[in-house]
Amino acid sequence: MNCTPIHPAAPGRCVRRAAPFTQTLACAGLTLAATLLAVNAPAATPEPVQVTVAVGTPGARLNPAMWGIFFEDINLGADGGLASELVKNGSFEFTQFTMGWAFSGGGSHAVRMVKPLHPNNPNYLEVTTDPTRPPKLANEGHRGMGVRKGETYTFSVFARAAAEVPVTLQITVLGQGGQVLGKATLGRFTGEWLRHSVPVRINATEAKARLLVTVEGGGKLDLDMVSLQPVKTWKNRPQGLRADLVQMLADLQPGFMRFPGGCIVEGHVLANRYQWKTTIGNPEERKLIINRWNDEFKHRPAPDYFQSFAVGFLEYFQVCEDMGAEPLPIINCGMACQFNSNELAPLDKLDPYLQDMLDLIEFANGDASTPWGARRVALGHPAPFRLKLLGVGNEQWGPQYIERLARLAPVLKARHPEIQLISSAGPDPDGDKFNFLWPKLRELKADLVDEHYYRPPAWFLDNTRRYDAYDRQGPKIFAGEYAAQSVRTVSPDNRNNWECALAEAAMLTGFERNGDVVRMSSYAPLFGHVDGWQWRPNLIWFDNLTVFGTPNYYVQQLFSRNRGDVILPVTVAGAPTAANREPRFYASSTREEKTSEIIVKLVNATAQSVSARLDLQGAGKLGGKATATLLTTAKLTDENTLEEPRKVAPVTTRLGKVAAAFTQECPAYSVTVLRVPQAK
Ligand code: AHR
Repeated sequence: MNCTPIHPAAPGRCVRRAAPFTQTLACAGLTLAATLLAVNAPAATPEPVQVTVAVGTPGARLNPAMWGIFFEDINLGADGGLASELVKNGSFEFTQFTMGWAFSGGGSHAVRMVKPLHPNNPNYLEVTTDPTRPPKLANEGHRGMGVRKGETYTFSVFARAAAEVPVTLQITVLGQGGQVLGKATLGRFTGEWLRHSVPVRINATEAKARLLVTVEGGGKLDLDMVSLQPVKTWKNRPQGLRADLVQMLADLQPGFMRFPGGCIVEGHVLANRYQWKTTIGNPEERKLIINRWNDEFKHRPAPDYFQSFAVGFLEYFQVCEDMGAEPLPIINCGMACQFNSNELAPLDKLDPYLQDMLDLIEFANGDASTPWGARRVALGHPAPFRLKLLGVGNEQWGPQYIERLARLAPVLKARHPEIQLISSAGPDPDGDKFNFLWPKLRELKADLVDEHYYRPPAWFLDNTRRYDAYDRQGPKIFAGEYAAQSVRTVSPDNRNNWECALAEAAMLTGFERNGDVVRMSSYAPLFGHVDGWQWRPNLIWFDNLTVFGTPNYYVQQLFSRNRGDVILPVTVAGAPTAANREPRFYASSTREEKTSEIIVKLVNATAQSVSARLDLQGAGKLGGKATATLLTTAKLTDENTLEEPRKVAPVTTRLGKVAAAFTQECPAYSVTVLRVPQAK
């Protein structure tokens, strides 16, 4: 066995070292998918694999919040995605004040800042009308606007007339060919900033509609927070979240939701870090900033990407509550993105960062007698959100991180022993940064350490036993960001293909087997707009009207919806191995108490069907009907698409009654989840 005597996460132990796959990694981008997963396969029918599940000697309890989600406003995840707002730059706060807008007709317009609607939202549009040639303002939306036949949308705007003059707004929603999809009229503006709204019913479905506002009459009109939003939102909350996208999240039954990221927590510089206090309250009070993914990648520029914070911290806590997911906010620890400016708040000036963390805990959990608890109550949510987890910094590294963590964590722990803190292990699952951080985090007695792996599929297959040797007494693991990269990290050519999803499934069996140490995990990133992404792969893709889950999504769903409560030890014997002698057949098992079901996950990452001989030792009498859910497809390169959203999707079949020993056929390149009921 290959051993490294010292591993930062498992001191004094012999850790099984990944066999020499570095060459494979180095040329992963050039390697054919099938080669990555190839095994030293015997030409003849392979021997059956023996899978023994020690049902009679259960292990630790799995964290109910084990399988979660990672949300970041990247790839139009919030603005243009989860936020149902269809108008882009309705507040005229983008760096180019009128980006997203086109002007035609007569009259004139100018962006002004005189007595604005709110100090956090200083710009507004002043329109001077021309009764003979009314000015027209068109908004292009976030890569167009998705509207549906028969549904009602609310047009709203804050408006102020210079004097009480009869100005009327003609609101039209136009299709790509210029056809009218819906219209409405709005008037009776006064000299005070007031929100005016009107319903617009849509007569045809269109993915790339636009909004046209014609300003009729005479005089001047100030406009701000121009908005078009569906009435149908998640839970039909006004100005709520896009229902189909949230439904995809809810269908994962996530145990937790990490928010708001991701590098977005850090900002390019500290001034544009994510600050939760500017994300609550009425939309016009939320202070828009540039999205750090706006100009991050030269190969995928998104000059119109800003954060309006339409999905702010209240919406976040609420959606966690809706889904039964633990909130897991990540808060800036005085460090801007280390891939960018690496700006640092001096060690003696960390108070504002600490205060933001303390206040967020109070906002989530405090009662009405506390200032931030009272704020939550005033915003319409009297019940606390029962926050139990908090991330101190995102993907930070180096002594700079440890110095800040060492100052922030003890105060947080002293004030809030009930909160478990997440600390960063940096951007890589190995190497200098990782090796520097781990011993320090151990010394600091970190609760949970956030490990990230954006690695090729072969790395996932070779690392399923990564946690077998982790120190059981040390900090617990939060696998907080991972995704198999078919080409290389940040390559725009990465794909959400079956090869990657299958490799992740193999890794998840390792998480589950080691659920006493790996307490939580989340794939990253979560969302990608097909016309507006910066990063791929992503768990869920969408356009302005539709959404689909990737094969990776269905892998996550299989694990989260078949979680179980108690880990059952599993051994796999006779698994076919790859050229580096790593097995390519993986298994994990749990028991669900509510249903008394034994759940077994089997991942066959070989090119041939494998007969798995299951032995459910100590299972006692089995009762009821077993099921097998199979996730597989013909080719490793297969993906789901808008046109074929369920090309790779799970299918459940009934197995009937099974004995404690039975054989399950696992097709080539497949994930199988068995549920076997025990007699109650
Ligand atoms: O998931 C995309 C990015 O990857 C995250 O923002 C960051 O934390 C990591 O580097």
